[in-house]
Amino acid sequence: MSAQIIDGKARAKEIKEEVKAEVEQLKEKGVVPGLSVILVGNDPASQSYVKMKAKDCQEVGMNSEVIRMEESTSQEELLAEVERLNQDPNVHGILVQLPIPDHIDEKVIINAIAPSKDVDGFHPINVGKMMIGEEDAYLPCTPRGVVDLIKLTGTDLKGKHAVVVGRSNIVGKPASMLLLKEHATVTVCHSKTTNLKEITKQADILVAAVGRAHMITEDFVSPGTVVIDVGTNRIESGKLVGDVDYEKVSQIASHITPVPGGVGPMTRAMLLMNTLDAAKTIHGIK
Ligand code: GUN
Repeated sequence: MSAQIIDGKARAKEIKEEVKAEVEQLKEKGVVPGLSVILVGNDPASQSYVKMKAKDCQEVGMNSEVIRMEESTSQEELLAEVERLNQDPNVHGILVQLPIPDHIDEKVIINAIAPSKDVDGFHPINVGKMMIGEEDAYLPCTPRGVVDLIKLTGTDLKGKHAVVVGRSNIVGKPASMLLLKEHATVTVCHSKTTNLKEITKQADILVAAVGRAHMITEDFVSPGTVVIDVGTNRIESGKLVGDVDYEKVSQIASHITPVPGGVGPMTRAMLLMNTLDAAKTIHGIK
């Protein structure tokens, strides 16, 4: 039997329609949500992500700008730009596209973004709020999209065993927190985990966020598992593939996200949701 495909692209489209309708209402109140994205350097993947984020904003009627800075930009220059955006009342969301060049300390930059404009949910204040379950935290976009897609399958997370493979600050760690909030029993695995297969085989829900092409093969998965593939790996042929061996695993799983067209579009949709929330919060609109 083959798995049902979880159509992230279609779900993201639905979310964008909802955001667009809310943006129209906000405009009637004189507020146009605005996202500013800073891109430092010339990383081709980052350039294309940033372009897509700006396009998404336009499609839902938000203002957006991409601020491109040279690879040689100093930490002080980048900090000054972040501070300028913190002060700009027309900017509701600030996103510094990662990775940034090695000579700049990523932590210093993330800490400088006003938590109220941190639509990535990477600032320690928002991370802490997420950890203790405060409602006004900005949740990081990819994990938020992951949970939404699991719910879309009709799976009740309560009491289920969710296994997350990967412990990054962007995906693995926050995804485990959000799954816990949904009352799942969560196991976080990573590159140092011994007997990984034995653990992933116990999963009702498997979230793969390791960044290694096709690492999760059919022998990591038990029948009936919901498989969410966060990986976007460019292989030699130029093709974009996930962390999951889709062809094989889709024969076993109950539901599976494709790559592309699964988690990726959801990350972008959630960024729009967070930017909308930021605009509403900053202007005191419920
Ligand atoms: N680089 C890869 N994913 C992300 C993301 O979600 N946010 C930012 N700022 N940079 C990224």
